[in-house]
Amino acid sequence: MKDGGPLPPPPPPTYDPDYVKCPCCDRRFNQGAADRHIKFCQEQAARMPTKSKLGDAKKPRGRTPHFFFLFRAITFLNHTVPDFTDNGASNFIKCSSSDYYATSETNYIRKIDPVTLETLDKVDYIKYLPVNLVSSHPHYDKEGNAYNIGTSIAEKAKTKYILFKVPAVSEKDKDKDAPALKNVEVICTVPCRSLLTPSYYHSFGITDNYFIFIEQPLKLDILKMATAYMRGVNWASCMKFCPEENTLIHLIDRKTGKVVETKYHTGPMVVYHHVNAFEDDGHVVFDVIAYNDSRLYEMFYLSKLKDNYGFQNDGYCKPSYKRFALPIQSDKGVAVGEDLVKLKYTTASAVKEKEGKLMCQAEVFCAGFELPRMNYDFNCKKHRFVYGNCVEESVLAKEIAKLDTETKERVYWSEDSCLPSEPVFIPKPKGESEDDGVVLASVINSNPGQSSFLLILDGRTFKEVARAYVKAPLNRDMHGLFIPREN
Ligand SMILES: [Fe+2]
Repeated sequence: MKDGGPLPPPPPPTYDPDYVKCPCCDRRFNQGAADRHIKFCQEQAARMPTKSKLGDAKKPRGRTPHFFFLFRAITFLNHTVPDFTDNGASNFIKCSSSDYYATSETNYIRKIDPVTLETLDKVDYIKYLPVNLVSSHPHYDKEGNAYNIGTSIAEKAKTKYILFKVPAVSEKDKDKDAPALKNVEVICTVPCRSLLTPSYYHSFGITDNYFIFIEQPLKLDILKMATAYMRGVNWASCMKFCPEENTLIHLIDRKTGKVVETKYHTGPMVVYHHVNAFEDDGHVVFDVIAYNDSRLYEMFYLSKLKDNYGFQNDGYCKPSYKRFALPIQSDKGVAVGEDLVKLKYTTASAVKEKEGKLMCQAEVFCAGFELPRMNYDFNCKKHRFVYGNCVEESVLAKEIAKLDTETKERVYWSEDSCLPSEPVFIPKPKGESEDDGVVLASVINSNPGQSSFLLILDGRTFKEVARAYVKAPLNRDMHGLFIPREN
């Protein structure tokens, strides 16, 4: 090069040997993405007109070449969204009375044996439903039906949220080995506010007649996701918080599958966990744990966690327990500026901003409370007690608490050098009150010479009933599911 000679040949391209090469476009994908992409790419190639035929091709009126290019480019994205993970490290869910799965938030769930915890088949939602992402917090009704929400990214050039139902397996099908997802039903689709930046969500709300879906300004950047593997970056780097946008709360009628016409807005916020929702006197009331921004994700980087478990981190943004109230009745005839919430027991408001648009303000119950659990028999009903982790100073809780939503008082459990997990409430069969039962929490115990343990608290007093030491290290977990023995 110094002498002005020709440049040396470029180095050969490097690629992951496990990746599968598409025979049509020569691009390489991991196995899951290849399964989806190659079929699509072959179909596209088969449809591609030859040059001589191009001029003769009949185009639908009003659809320009630009339209087709855009349509195909966006549809192509759908087939290049990578498989992020099949590691179901977020939660356990059930798809019917006997089907239990470990789940994350992708299209994969992993069946488990609820007795031995042996991992069984990997199930791909996409075989049954066009969803790339699925919440790890489904809801269940008394009949054994499961409800969940997923995101369909750029499918047929549209990005949408899909609320779906997995019907309970009937008695006659109970002994068959067919997956419950085979009978999945789409209840409703909600168009995304932005084609290429759908909202991230982690859970949703449900009442007897409505679903509550929060379209928040914490977003997934699909263009970044589509190139994430090539760039070797993680999921978190494909997300962005847009504080200049507000939050849109969708209320969806469960019977009609239609989104209620009134648009409920609130300021920018980030919600991971819904607590509960219920209907009361013409309102849908729902409780969530909300953050002012997306800094929570930053806290889980190892460098931050190693820093005294994040307890001295100035960047920590602690969440608030918030209650929203959405008036169901039409705002027609109501003056602009009027608050439509008429419930006496909450200061939550929904002020008419213009025809069909309400601006909602939540009532804040307390701060520094996460991983909320309650007596699930009170799902869709007005609840009083919530159990959760105290995260006043860090994402890693040193305390758990029982919150009384009527008095706003909390009682706590903690022990030196112990880190408790999410407290899971188990109702006593035929219990006398909402809090009649026990609370289970796994506790990482770093006291010298002591083992970690499963803590059992009285649901009413929040006092210890018993503990079971575990002769094995416990990991910091996220969620738990209690599976009764009869199942
Ligand atoms: Fe969660």
